[in-house]
Amino acid sequence: MANIGLLGLGTVGTGVYEIIKDRNEYFKKVLGEELNVKKILVRNLSKERKLLVGESVLTTDPEEILNDDDIDIVVEVLGGIGDAYKYIKTALNKNKHVITANKAVVALYLEEFLDISNRTGKGFLFEASVGGGIPIIKPLKQSLNTNDIDEITGILNGTTNFILTKMYEEGLDFDKALKLAQDLGYAEADPTDDIEGYDVARKLSILSSIGFKNNTNVSKIKCRGISNLITKDIDAFKSRNFAVKVLGKAKVSDTNILASVEPVLINKDSQYATVKDAYNVVSIKGNVVGDLKFYGKGAGKEPTANAVVSDIIDILNGSYKLDRINIEKNLDLDENKVFEGKYYIRLTPNDLYTPSDINEKISEIDIEYETIINDGDVIILTEIIEGNQLIDLLDTTDNMIKDCFYLRIEEI
Ligand code: NAP
Ligand code: HSE
Repeated sequence: MANIGLLGLGTVGTGVYEIIKDRNEYFKKVLGEELNVKKILVRNLSKERKLLVGESVLTTDPEEILNDDDIDIVVEVLGGIGDAYKYIKTALNKNKHVITANKAVVALYLEEFLDISNRTGKGFLFEASVGGGIPIIKPLKQSLNTNDIDEITGILNGTTNFILTKMYEEGLDFDKALKLAQDLGYAEADPTDDIEGYDVARKLSILSSIGFKNNTNVSKIKCRGISNLITKDIDAFKSRNFAVKVLGKAKVSDTNILASVEPVLINKDSQYATVKDAYNVVSIKGNVVGDLKFYGKGAGKEPTANAVVSDIIDILNGSYKLDRINIEKNLDLDENKVFEGKYYIRLTPNDLYTPSDINEKISEIDIEYETIINDGDVIILTEIIEGNQLIDLLDTTDNMIKDCFYLRIEEI
């Protein structure tokens, strides 16, 4: 019997427990042994839970899992950084395999965890940390090894993609759409991580570290979220046949990496525009294989738990690899650069200026653009401009506006 210690019994932990319970006969057949969730760490023992778990299985004491020599596999689905880091490190140092869905902790400590795992010979697997149910980490580590990867792009957050879909297709306001995403178990404990793009930055840094063979520092990834997106913006995008998506994009050049997380506009008939609700997509450019796309449910109980359980199976059938991030490059992330492209910019004048004042100011800048004055706002559609030209434009008008929202028009 394979004993598992589960750290966390929330959305993902519950899914993991249910899959193990429902599929145990099958696991016994293919693995030759049953899976047994021996202990589960939670924060609150008296919380009402839909799942029926024996009282003796739940604990609030992590030592009951970390110090139990009969538990060979620890699954961390707590979330957060402090405790998760401590427990993962302890479990690895105690010669246990560790599986996690926690991108916040993986983005910060991947190298350290892999070092311990290599020393002890036990696995450290994190398939569920990126793209929910999409198998992306394993293909990137194993199947794409033959490639130099120079670009990774994706819709990598289920919550924001769900919110944008609901706002765009059903006219829901932001707060209602967010509440729905939370009820469905898609959002992080603090949804700011989703809305402001930090969750995508973590996922992008994990993919880039593995794909580019370069330690990609998550704190240097520029993030812009969707919290100041308003219904009026959505209407304006629709009328111009644009869909809006939060895109994570990282690109390698000879000298550095440019990476960002930001809302972008795409043609509403493009493939990315068909990625709706909590679905994610990841595009990889390899020099041998060409362009690849991975698509599937990026958040939620079942898809994420599926990724966790498939890592458990890899451990038990011995097919897991003792990985390292094979750092071959030492490229820094250029924090001050912005991707070049066409931009859509909404500037809402403050009380001291009119749309015409703003328009006049912008005409002093050497870029090609079209202006539309709409409902008191100045909307600018630029031709392809350099990132620094965009920054100039925003700086020049900064003292004239009370609100601004800009998006790159991405051809994808
Ligand atoms: P969740 O629903 O908030 O569940 C967290 C669970 O961990 C709860 O059972 C909670 O206990 C327990 N817990 C949290 N901190 C604890 C601590 N310090 N000590 C003891 N118990 C603690 O979270 P989730 O949505 O399942 O997400 C778990 C992890 O998976 C996160 O890292 C998240 O980013 C990642 N993830 C989630 C999804 C998704 O769709 N939800 C997808 C991919 C990855 P109580 O039950 O007593 O409150
Ligand atoms: N909060 C995350 C999302 C969970 O919405 O994508 C999956 O990582």
